[in-house]
Order: sequence, then C-alpha cells, then structure tokens
Amino acid sequence: MAVIAEQCPDIEVTIVDINEQRIAAWNDVNAENLPIFEPGLKEIVTKTRGKNLFFSTDIEGAIKSGDIIFISVNTPTKLHGVGKGMAADLKYVELCARQIAAEATGNKIVVEKSTLPVRTAEAIKTILGNNKKGLKFQVLSNPEFLAEGTAIQDLHHPDRVLIGGDQTTEGLEAIEKLTSVYARWISRERIIQTNVWSSELSKLTANAFLAQRISSINSISALCEKTGADVDEIARAIGADSRIGSKFLKASVGFGGSCFQKDILNLVYLCRHFNLPEVADYWEQVIKMNDFQKDRFADQIIKSLFNTVSGKKIAFMGWAFKKDTNDTRESAAIYIADELLQDRAMIHVYDPKVNTEKVYADIEYLQLHRLYSQRKGAEHYEQLTPEEIRKQVTVHTEPYSACHNAHAIAVLTEWDEFKTLDWNHIYENMYKPAFVFDGRNVLNRKELTGIGFELYSVGKA
Ligand code: UDX
Repeated sequence: MAVIAEQCPDIEVTIVDINEQRIAAWNDVNAENLPIFEPGLKEIVTKTRGKNLFFSTDIEGAIKSGDIIFISVNTPTKLHGVGKGMAADLKYVELCARQIAAEATGNKIVVEKSTLPVRTAEAIKTILGNNKKGLKFQVLSNPEFLAEGTAIQDLHHPDRVLIGGDQTTEGLEAIEKLTSVYARWISRERIIQTNVWSSELSKLTANAFLAQRISSINSISALCEKTGADVDEIARAIGADSRIGSKFLKASVGFGGSCFQKDILNLVYLCRHFNLPEVADYWEQVIKMNDFQKDRFADQIIKSLFNTVSGKKIAFMGWAFKKDTNDTRESAAIYIADELLQDRAMIHVYDPKVNTEKVYADIEYLQLHRLYSQRKGAEHYEQLTPEEIRKQVTVHTEPYSACHNAHAIAVLTEWDEFKTLDWNHIYENMYKPAFVFDGRNVLNRKELTGIGFELYSVGKA
C-alpha cells in the first residue's frame, strides 16, 4: 500500500486496523519504530505519510470514503474444528466482508489481497451481496507475490501483477480500474488478467512450486552427504539449464515464512476436499521433506556432540526465517530449538533484528501447537513451561557473548554479518572440538576448517 501511495501521488491510501497500538506505531514520528522491518520501507513511509498515505483506526470512515477496498487480513491455519491444522481460517476475512457490507454507502470494488483458498471471493461476494441497501460490489483477487526482505524492490519491479475478476461487463470494468492503478509504474504486459478462480489458485500454486524446489534440492542434499557430492555444485550444474533456472535452489536447514507451509497445507486440504488424494499426497510430501530436513539438522547436532546436548551451550546465529527481515513465522530455528530443548540443551540466540520476547513467544507457541510435526515420536515431546524455556534459552544483543564458551554454533539465518565475524576469536573462546553447523551454507569452509572448527554444511560430505 505504501508503494501504491509512493507511485500514485494523486491517490489517497488509508490503512486501517482495529489494533490501536499498531496504528500508533505506524504513525510514530521516529521511523525506526515502525512495526515491520523491511529494507526501504521506512523511507517510503516517511516520504508519503501525512501526504497521501494515512494510518488510522477509523475503519467505518475508510470504508465509506474508499472506492477500492483491499482486504489484507491474516489467514492463519485453523487451530480447531473442521480442517484443523490444514485449512485456512477465514474468520477475519469474513468479519471484514461483513463490516464492509454494513458500513458502505456506495458501490465499491473489494480486492482480496490476503492469500486465500480458492473460491473465497465467492464467499465474500455472497456476504456483500446480502446487503439490504441495493449496493453493488465487485470482488477482485489480486494476490501478492512479494518476498520479505526484498519487498520494495519486488513491488517496484514485479515479474507480474495478477488481477482476477468476474468475466462480466462490470467485472471487467473493475479489473481495468485496478489495472490502471498498477499501470502507473508497471508495464501492461506484466499485468495478467484472469478469472477469479485462476488468480486465487495461481497464488497457492506459485508458492507450492517455489517450496517444492527447495524441498527437491534439500532431498538431494541428504544424498550428497552420503555420497560425497556437493549440493551447491549440483545446484549450479542443474540451474544452468535454462528450463530449470538457477533461483530457489539453495539447500538449507529448511524453508520457513508465513506462506509456504500454510499455502501448501491449504492446497492439500482443497485436493482432499475435491477427492483428489493422490494430488494431495504429492504436495504434502513437500512439507514432509521440509520437516525431514529440519529433523536431520537437529539430529546432526546431537549426534556430533556425542549423542547428547544436555546442559551444553549451543549458540544460534539467526532466528528470523531468512535474512533482512525480523519476521520469524515458521522459522526453522524455532523447530531446531524445540528439538534440542527436548534434550535439555542451553540455547543462546543472537539475531540482529529479532528481540528477546519474540524468541520466547515463538518457542512457547510451538509447545501448544505442535500440529504438523512429522517427527517420529513428536507426540511424546514434553511441553516446556515458560519458566523452563527462560532458564534454558538466553537471547543476546551481540554475537560474541552468544558464542562464548559454547560447545557448538548453529547458523540458522543467512545474515551477511555472520560471514565476517571474527571466527578466530570465536574459536579461541569455545569448547573443543568446536563445532559449527552451517544451516545456510554461508560460511567460508576453507577459512573455518583452517582455524580448526569441525564444520558441518548442508549437502556436503
Ligand atoms: C514467499 C514467496 O517467495 C513470495 O512470492 C510469496 O508472496 C510469499 O512467500 P517469503 O516467504 O517472503 O516469500 O520468502 P522466500 O524468499 O520465498 O523464502 C521462503 C523460505 O525459503 C525462507 O526460509 C528461505 O530461507 C527459504 N529458501 C529460499 C531456501 O531455503 N532456499 C532457497 O533457495 C530459497
């Protein structure tokens, strides 16, 4: 929304939320306090806020005055009831649609921006269509493909923008209206217009394909470790084939983030719902492989440390699900910590952007919601109390104290600064043998092994 405001100075963009604290943070004069860290975002917000970008809790006013309303609420995986652990929970979307129907006084275009299961637009349309004021709503699907950490660049130069709508005269008019907003800075060839269902399903499919590539290369990384092949060399060799392409072939400790797992679970749920069990099983395997990769990494740490990490200090370099973001949703680090905590490890976390409370909240949340763990025996995992977690986990504001007197270091996020740490100094102050488990393959193997570290890298023997 901030980029729309930046690119279209004549369009007024108002972002509304019931959460007063969050809106206050977005309005904070000190741009360092914005609730989301994303490179380039604070500059755009500072430039446009108060001119044509506004943050407010006046939802009613914004619905009344808006011509186009974007629904961008959370659609978490359901924690209870039918579809528990798989289907998307649409209660916030439904509440939004009901509120729009109740407050609107004129015709509107309503755009679903949240990632939603296929045919949600129809549900929104039904709710909006039931208004007693005779108002007309056009519902469009306009999924977001930006990736965190590169969001602004992705929005400035997207590979494509997708807009789905009804193929009626009114629907096509609405599609055109939204197209004309994006066309201010994106060439029309990159704006793809489809029917609503294709647009909704494209988003799930894109994320499933991207995640599948990571699970595919991660599956090969396990074989590399057994055979002596090098997964990065394989990625380079296969990525040179233009039909395969070089992106998204980086083997890792496992993918995280708010989208991949959630969207695939959604896809799996949809396939089961439409009685396509083979298709459901096919895509579910992408998640199972990702769980396997995380388990393998945790097992590798335990095995290397002579089959026990109990009471041992393990430093975690990174907690965010990828670099250049403070987002930790579904981060592999949370799952690795959980597995090591079962064996009573002492975990010391350093992440340049994630604060202490977030780390504790992530581990606490997982204790209560171990919904999708494929790990054998996970159902017997002990549920750690908040006090136990605080005793076993320490969060640091700089890396060297986290590594001081550690038995092992696990690199779980590919932050650039980890490459240039003073590894000699870290080695001097660790227990020997000094183990480093590079879950992102970002460290210089020659340098670290030269210093004396016992280095494990994903997919390298
Ligand atoms: C993803 C999609 O890329 C984006 O199009 C969609 O809109 C939302 O979901 P995001 O979750 O922000 O974006 O990050 P992404 O860069 O896709 O990374 C997801 C996870 O995969 C991260 O944990 C990342 O570290 C991991 N990853 C990515 C790998 O392990 N290897 C790779 O080669 C690429």
